[in-house]
Amino acid sequence: MARVITGKTLLPVLHGEAVWPPPVWLMRQAGRYLPEYRALRARVDDFIALCTTPELATEITLQPVRRFRLDAAILFSDILMLPYALGHGLAYREGEGPVLPPLRDAAAVAALDRSRVAGAIAPIQETVRRVAAMLPTVQPDAALIGFAGAPFTVACYMIEGGGSKDFLETRLMAYRDPSLFAALIDVLTEATETYLVGQIEAGAEVVMLFDSWAGILSPALFRAHVIAPTRRIVTSLKTRFPSIPVIGFPRLAGLMLGAYADATCVDAVGVDTATDIAVASDVVRLPLALQGNLDPLALLAGAEVLASGVGAILAAIRNRPFVFNLGHGVLPQTPPEHVAELVRLVRAG
Ligand code: CP3
Repeated sequence: MARVITGKTLLPVLHGEAVWPPPVWLMRQAGRYLPEYRALRARVDDFIALCTTPELATEITLQPVRRFRLDAAILFSDILMLPYALGHGLAYREGEGPVLPPLRDAAAVAALDRSRVAGAIAPIQETVRRVAAMLPTVQPDAALIGFAGAPFTVACYMIEGGGSKDFLETRLMAYRDPSLFAALIDVLTEATETYLVGQIEAGAEVVMLFDSWAGILSPALFRAHVIAPTRRIVTSLKTRFPSIPVIGFPRLAGLMLGAYADATCVDAVGVDTATDIAVASDVVRLPLALQGNLDPLALLAGAEVLASGVGAILAAIRNRPFVFNLGHGVLPQTPPEHVAELVRLVRAG
C-alpha cells in the first residue's frame, strides 16, 4: 500500500517506496512560460551567461518552486553546458536554439579538453550550493535535482551542430565510423561523471540523465550508446555516493524501456508521452520508480483535458513508487495557472 508521508517525498519514492499522493515536479519547470523568468532573462542577452551566473541561475531555479510549491527544484542549466565545458563552441540563437560547430572527425574529438571541465563547471556547482542553502527557506519539502544530458543525446547536438528532426549525421557516424563515435561517447561519459560528481558534492540530492533522443537508435546501437554509457555513469556514481538516486530518461525508448531499466542500475525511469504508463509499469520491475508522463499539450490545453489526463495517470500507478511529471518539457505557451491546477489535482490524489 502507498504510504502517506510528509517531508521530502521524492527521496523515499526514488528509494523504492510508494507514497501517496506522489511527489510532483515538471521537466523544464523553469523557463519562458513564467513571466518572472522572462523578466530575468531580459537582463542578459546570452543564455550561457544566465547558466554561469550563480546569482541569476539560483533565482531561476527557485522561481517555479516558490510559485507552485513543487516537490523538487531542478538546477537551472542546460545539457549543452557539458560540451561548452569541454571547450567545444556553443551559442544559443534567438528562435533557432543551440548552435555548435558540427563535430565530424577525430581531430575534433581529440580537441575536447577534459582538463577544462572542473574549472568550467565551477559556477554551476556554485549555483547548486546556493540553491541547496536557500531551498529550505523557500520550500522545505522540496528535494534538489542535479542533471546532465546522457552521452548519446549530447553527442547528437555536437555531431549535428544543433537540433535536428532526425539526427541523420549522428546515426550515420555510428555506422560508418564506429570507433570515432565510440571515442566521442567515451569522452562524454567520463566528463559527465565528473560533472555529476561535482553537482552531488555541491548538494544535489538526486541526479537525472536526460537522453531525449535515445529512441532514434536501433536496438543494437541503443544497447551500445544508451544503455552501456548510462550504466557506466550510474555504477561509478553509486560507488562514491550509494544513497544518491539516479533518474534516467531514455525518451522514445519504447520496447527497450525494460532492458534500459534492467541494465543501467538507475533508480527511476522517466516515461515519455508516447508510452502507456500502465505498460511501462509492467515492464519496469519493482522497486524501480517511474516518472512521467502527462502530455505537455494536455497541460497547455488545461480544463477537462488536464483533469482527465492527470486522473488516468494516477489511476494507473497507484501502489507503485511514482513521481508525477510530464512526458517531455513544459511548452513556452503554457499558462502558469494550468501548472498550479496540475499540482492541485495531483495533491488531491
Ligand atoms: O528543467 C528545467 O527547468 C531546468 C533547466 C533545463 C533547460 N534545458 C533550460 C533551457 C533543462 C533540464 C534542459 C534540458 C535540455 N536542454 C534538454 C533535454 C530535455 C529535452 O527538452 O529534451 C535538451 C535536448 C536541451 C537542449 C536545448 N536547450 C535546446 C534544444 C534548446 C532550445 C529550445 C528551447 O527549448 O528553447 C535549449 C535552450 C534552453 N534550455 C532554454 C531553457 C530555459 C531556453 C533558452 C531561452 O530562454 O532563451
